[in-house]
Amino acid sequence: MNITLRIWRQAGPDLPGKLVDYQVPGVSPDMSFLEMLDVLNERLAGQGQDPIAFDSDCREGICGMCSLVINGQAHGPERGTATCQLHMRTFQDGDVITVEPFRARAFPPIKDLAVDRSAFDRVMAAGGFISVNTGNAADANAVLVPKVMADEAMDAAACIGCGACVAACPNAAAMLFVAAKISHLALLPQGRPEQARRALSMRKAMDEESFGNCSNETECEAACPKEIKFSNIARFNREFLKASLTE
Ligand code: SF4
Ligand code: FES
Repeated sequence: MNITLRIWRQAGPDLPGKLVDYQVPGVSPDMSFLEMLDVLNERLAGQGQDPIAFDSDCREGICGMCSLVINGQAHGPERGTATCQLHMRTFQDGDVITVEPFRARAFPPIKDLAVDRSAFDRVMAAGGFISVNTGNAADANAVLVPKVMADEAMDAAACIGCGACVAACPNAAAMLFVAAKISHLALLPQGRPEQARRALSMRKAMDEESFGNCSNETECEAACPKEIKFSNIARFNREFLKASLTE
């Protein structure tokens, strides 16, 4: 396949950026999107040019490091797929593909396609944990959790913290991310002691990081590579309201 990439290049955080076209011939349909960028970067480096900066780590859809807005969609066109799991067979020979960084005030640019998503870490540090004594592993079934609750908690725990929900939201809201973390912990007995404090402090931290507000666009759910459900946001709102009235 012969692909034309239109890639956002920006040499540094406060410098102007622009879209630059690159021809990438001989792309295998079995390559991942990031492998194709690796091939392009090897060529650029070989020509003495600056390779394109982008984030990745596990390349297995687990770590949440990869980002990229591909043809206007965070993580590209495949539903429930992180950028690192996206394959070139999704595209056609001769396609022109526009590649941009996640854009949100809370995710300041670093270079090219890489942005600083440490705002998520600070929101997590504000309450995305439990403070129980973990000790040895508890005996199986020592803490009984209804199956339906365990399933919902596991679904919420699948959030990899990638930030696509923020990138896809017209308000750059972080509600789906925070709602996933709140839900994961609020649904399990171990998370209950700090339930109210967690909802208040994570909400406060989220607002302080300049994320926008949710206006029920549901673009976050559509972009999420882990298909975290929008209904978690309703649970977050309930948790926050309850905590505001009781704490
Ligand atoms: S909710 Fe989905 S899109 Fe948002 S950070 Fe978690 S995994 Fe990524
Ligand atoms: S590189 Fe780890 S999720 Fe994509």
